Amino acid sequence: MKNFNDLIDKLRKEKTLTKEEYLILIKNREKCKEYLFKNSSEVRDKIYGKDIYIRGLIEFTNYCKNDCLYCGIRRSNKNADRYRLTKEEILNCADEGYKLGFRTYVMQGGEDGYYTDEILVDIIKSVKLKYPDCAITLSIGERSFESYKKLKEAGADRYLLRHETANENHYKKLHPKEMSFENRIKCLENLKKLGYQVGAGFMVGSPYQTEENLAEEMIFLKRINPHMVGIGPFIPHKDTPFNKEKQGKVDVTLFMLGLIRLTLPNVLLPATTALGTIDNLGREKGIKAGANVLMPNLSPVGVRKKYMLYDNKICTGDEAAQCIECLKQRINKIGYNIVVARGDYKGEINYDKI
Ligand code: 5AD
Ligand code: FES
Repeated sequence: MKNFNDLIDKLRKEKTLTKEEYLILIKNREKCKEYLFKNSSEVRDKIYGKDIYIRGLIEFTNYCKNDCLYCGIRRSNKNADRYRLTKEEILNCADEGYKLGFRTYVMQGGEDGYYTDEILVDIIKSVKLKYPDCAITLSIGERSFESYKKLKEAGADRYLLRHETANENHYKKLHPKEMSFENRIKCLENLKKLGYQVGAGFMVGSPYQTEENLAEEMIFLKRINPHMVGIGPFIPHKDTPFNKEKQGKVDVTLFMLGLIRLTLPNVLLPATTALGTIDNLGREKGIKAGANVLMPNLSPVGVRKKYMLYDNKICTGDEAAQCIECLKQRINKIGYNIVVARGDYKGEINYDKI
């Protein structure tokens, strides 16, 4: 026990461990999780206080050209009922979100060729013109450097692109052969070069993932030093090749959140919807483990059930206003406050180091 707590002290002080040391902690998480969460919570409070940032998620298309084996909107899923939101519909989501106190919009979608740079530039400019005090985060997958550049120039501030796994062999087991780990990382590098605040991330408990892989995640994250890290448990989707696989575990996800907070103290770290899906109190537990961001859904209720990346996703029948009320209560109960703010990364932003 003492040894594990010493390792956690070392991590807090030096903000990094070796892969072997991370692995020791992960394997012995039951014995040291309380101590980890005490430290990760303190570090988060020191930097971000009791403020919890919210991001309004606008899921604007569920068309996707990719065929990731875990994902419910993969192109081979013929049962997915496909939709696209128009610019007007997206602006309506933004209007509603602004009234509810959102100052960041996350435009997320599958890799949908319909949304050319031209169309996206127009949408981004329109949202920014109407809401210049809001940040726009894009989460629309792999695109070229030139495309990322145009979108940045149009006003996009941040970009989420989870790497999904830091291990190239593992990556191959989760993705079809036309997708490559190398290109994924190249995209993250390009986004950083262009001055985006960049979010990486991975699934916890995805098929074939080992504890060693989780330790590798920490080394990888330290190296690329992202501004945001999105992690959540893998949850099987009934219409994917992984439908019979086991879902990720709450306790492992929480432990990884704690490790991430100590490794990248300033990181923007969401307690994800997937975590709230496998445990009714998952998001609250995530915050107690060191998270400081929530990403409620702002998509029109009519399309929510169609954006099913995994089974049983929560809040697909609720209006955004209901969710925000629900979340405010949940968060206040544990001593934190949802704030009306863009919620930018606090700390020195080094865009080159990746
Ligand atoms: N379970 C959990 N998370 C998933 N994602 C996609 N499919 C699943 C699933 N079955 C995550 C991926 C992706 C993000 C938008 O959602 O990590 O990057
Ligand atoms: Fe959506 Fe509680 S957050 S209903």
